[in-house]
Amino acid sequence: MRRPLVAGNWKMNGSRASIKALLDGIKQGIGAVTRAEVVVCAPYIYLPDVEAQLSGSPVAWGAQNLSTEASGAYTGEISASMLLDFHCRYVIVGHSERRSLYGETDAVVAKKFAVARAAGLVPILCVGETLAEREQGITEQVVARQLQAVIDLEGVAALAAGVIAYEPVWAIGTGKTASPEQAQEVHAFIRRRIAASDAAVAEKVQILYGGSMNAANAAALLAQADIDGGLIGGASLKAEDFLTICRAAN
Ligand code: 13P
Repeated sequence: MRRPLVAGNWKMNGSRASIKALLDGIKQGIGAVTRAEVVVCAPYIYLPDVEAQLSGSPVAWGAQNLSTEASGAYTGEISASMLLDFHCRYVIVGHSERRSLYGETDAVVAKKFAVARAAGLVPILCVGETLAEREQGITEQVVARQLQAVIDLEGVAALAAGVIAYEPVWAIGTGKTASPEQAQEVHAFIRRRIAASDAAVAEKVQILYGGSMNAANAAALLAQADIDGGLIGGASLKAEDFLTICRAAN
């Protein structure tokens, strides 16, 4: 049985004060969430605050990105070892915003996955098609290509050390969620695709759905056989909404 996982991706939102209030709210309600693992992925600069506030709580934390390099002359970058210094457990790699706005290629994302894994972080690998790609009927090809870049570099077994997040780009921040059936179809495809190389890895790997998941639609999405949790943007910024999703996953 795969453990449900709900991860909040705060993106570039919040302030010291708002994050403190948000974490206070999450901590107050998290007692009811006994089975699902809960994670918040914060902007780098707030990680020390997040660590101080969440240490000793059941909520884990992580970052939204990391460098492909270990150290050196890479102005503005943050390495895996720096994230470990603040006891991050997770790191998102290959979010569609990083791919589309910051030019991260499949190869760069695969390297980030590898670097995170080698450091002992759990990479949350994001995959997903744009609206144009869905309309062209190439959703499966796109997702397969994004996955294959990691498999080519790291081998299929490496996927079991991470988490996959299916995030259709057209559903991110748009309020337009994939229907439970649409999401399940792609999740099942991802699992089948992995199973073709390694059935045990396919059975084990958690596949999260992301894209306008909220307190109202989470339960129906999470009820699907191959949806093991959520990667939540906007709704993770409100403690009550985030907790409702965590309880649904639980
Ligand atoms: P929204 O939940 O705001 O659509 O964002 C999803 C997402 O990109 C999570 O990584």
